[in-house]
This record gives sequence, structure tokens and C-alpha cells, in this order.
Amino acid sequence: MKSKILVTGGLGFIGSHTVVALLQQGYEVVIIDNLSNSSIDVLGGITKITQKSPEFEKLDLRNKEQVKEFFEKYPDIQGVIHFAASKAVGESVENPLLYYENNLSTLIYLLKELSRKNSANFIFSSSCTVYGQADKLPITEDAPVKEAMSPYGNTKQIGEEIIRDTCKVHPHFKAISLRYFNPIGAHPSAEIGELPIGTPQNLVPFITQTAIGKREQLSVYGNDYPTQDGTCIRDYIHVMDLARAHVVALERLMENKARENYDVFNLGTGKGSSVLEVINTFEKVSGQQLPYKIVDRREGDITAAYADTQKANDILGWKSQESLEEALRSAWTWENRVKEKDAIQ
Ligand SMILES: NC(=O)c1ccc[n+]([C@@H]2O[C@H](COP(=O)([O-])OP(=O)(O)OC[C@H]3O[C@@H](n4cnc5c(N)ncnc54)[C@H](O)[C@@H]3O)[C@@H](O)[C@H]2O)c1
Repeated sequence: MKSKILVTGGLGFIGSHTVVALLQQGYEVVIIDNLSNSSIDVLGGITKITQKSPEFEKLDLRNKEQVKEFFEKYPDIQGVIHFAASKAVGESVENPLLYYENNLSTLIYLLKELSRKNSANFIFSSSCTVYGQADKLPITEDAPVKEAMSPYGNTKQIGEEIIRDTCKVHPHFKAISLRYFNPIGAHPSAEIGELPIGTPQNLVPFITQTAIGKREQLSVYGNDYPTQDGTCIRDYIHVMDLARAHVVALERLMENKARENYDVFNLGTGKGSSVLEVINTFEKVSGQQLPYKIVDRREGDITAAYADTQKANDILGWKSQESLEEALRSAWTWENRVKEKDAIQ
């Protein structure tokens, strides 16, 4: 039996796909989630795919005492992947304290418990948002961290700093921050996928919800950016590729392969796609005509961001494998599955 891994936020979008990847590699998994942005049904989806049942603790990581009790109950946790956080940029502007509390106190309580152990391996969900509008594309990990454009983005920057400082004084504490570009898609079985609560903030769930008829029209925020077709460019990465990267990163720490006890890696495909390219590709793979209109730019949107993935390729030995077509196809299959499930309920 391989090691026991704690996945916080393991019923969320990226967490659930990573739990599947871990279980399929033979790891034991314990999930912590407070269900603030996920459903308990996801557990059934994970079990259906893997034929395994991860342990689940419904716990709010803001509760310091309960976090302590959790580690007393599970003293044999060998690695932690920390996804749990609030992630809506707009909401973070309206309610910054909620974001600072949920994204930073949870991190601090986990690190406090882990830094007491003889050894700890920690993976943190960071984001390409730390780069803001980078001066050079593609973006390398050496690109300067720019002033955050939202409290959400700031929690990722501060989170990384908290981990880096913890690693400095606890040499037995090993950590990696993974800076995701734009995760999309779903497990090919369509048993799990992205379940945005309320109006989606991200392009792909907005596209699939519009195509299925939940939303009237897609708004494209600006077509006057200095890009080939005037719309913003992002690096869309399949969530299955992302899930695999977490397993590889954790193994690097657990197998003592890392030279430094703290490191950061970009996780992207290295390829930028414009909003119109994503729409056209979606129309091609789904056979759906997507109603959309061009509206004004949205405040805080940067022009273009895509990853230089050399470091992850060379050091982690990880490379994205799935195409934009495949990612959009899986997102569309998932949206249809959600509709079927909604119709039954
Ligand atoms: N999805 C993206 O586009 C994206 C991009 C970059 C970084 N990230 C980061 O990746 C991580 C996972 O993102 P996701 O898209 O899977 O989000 P998600 O909302 O689907 O998953 C987060 C999970 O954490 C849980 N959670 C939140 N606060 C909690 C708390 N206090 N205690 C216990 N559980 C709690 C939620 O219920 C949810 O299941 C987040 O840290 C997010 O900031 C996401």
C-alpha cells in the first residue's frame, strides 16, 4: 500500500480529478472539504471511476481546533495537496476579508500542524494570476510577481510567501507551489467535472452553459485588445493533465528528489488561445452554434497570458498531453451529463 495523502478541497473541480489520479496510482486518500463550493455527490463520482472509496472528513479548515484534531486522528499522512480556497475574483473584491480569512487562515493552520512533523510534503494551488500582465510571453517562473489585481490574487501571492518563509526555517518541510494557467475540461467518463455555483466566472463553463440553454448569450469582453483577433489570450489546460502534474510534484517531494525544499512550477500547455478561437473550437467539437456578443472590456482582464512550461517539462518530467479540442469536448459531455442529472432530480 502506498502513502496516505490528504487532499483539501478534494470534492472541488481540480481536487476531485486529482483524487482520482492519486487513487489510480495506488495512494490512499483522505479528503477534507466543507462543501462550500461542492457537492457530496462528487464522492460517488470518484468511487464510480476508481472503484475505490476515499475517506472523507467534512471539516472547515478555518476551524483551527478541528484541523489539529484531524492530524491527531490521521498521524500517518505523508503528503498534503491543498486546494481548499475561495476562488471567485469578483466576490473577493466585494468581500476581501472572507477571502483573506478563507485562503490564508486555512493555509496557516495546516502549515502549523505540518511544521510540527518530522517530515512534510506540501503542494499548494497557486495561479498564473501572480504574474499579472507579464512583460514577456511565454511566462517563465522567473517573471516578476506583479501587484495583485484582486484580493483573491493577493491571497495566492501571500500564500506563496507564507510557504516560502515556512520552508526557510523548517528544512524538513518540503513544498511546491503550482501556478495553474486556465484549467478546463472534465474526466472523460463525465462522472466528475466543473460545477460552478451561480454565474460562471470562467469562459468555458459559460460557453457550455450557454450552449445547453442555461444562459441566453455569451458575452465576449472586448475585441480591441492588441491580439490577432482582438480578444484576450489564455493558456487552457485540461484538468486531467493538471491532476497528473500534482501526483508527479508530490512524488518528487516524497522521493526526496528536490534540491530545494521550496519551488514553484507553471502548469500550462505553453500555447495561448484567444476567446474567439475557443468559441470556434467549441462550435466545431460540439456541433453547436454559440450565441455570443461583443461587449466592453471587463475591468482587471489582462491581454494575454500563456506559460513557458520548460521548467515543469525538465524538472518534473511532466508535459500536458490533451488538446484544446479534447478539453472542450469533455467539458461539453460533462455539461450534458449535468443536464441529465438535473432532469432526474
Ligand atoms: N479553477 C481555476 O481556474 C483555478 C486557477 C488557478 C488556481 N486555482 C486554485 O485551485 C484550487 C482549486 O480550485 P477549484 O477550481 O478546484 O475550486 P473549487 O471551488 O471547485 O474547489 C475548492 C474546494 O474547496 C472547498 N473549500 C473551500 N473553503 C474550504 C474550507 N474553509 N474548508 C474546507 N473546504 C473548503 C470547497 O467546498 C471546494 O470543494 C483553489 O485554491 C483555486 O484558488 C483554481
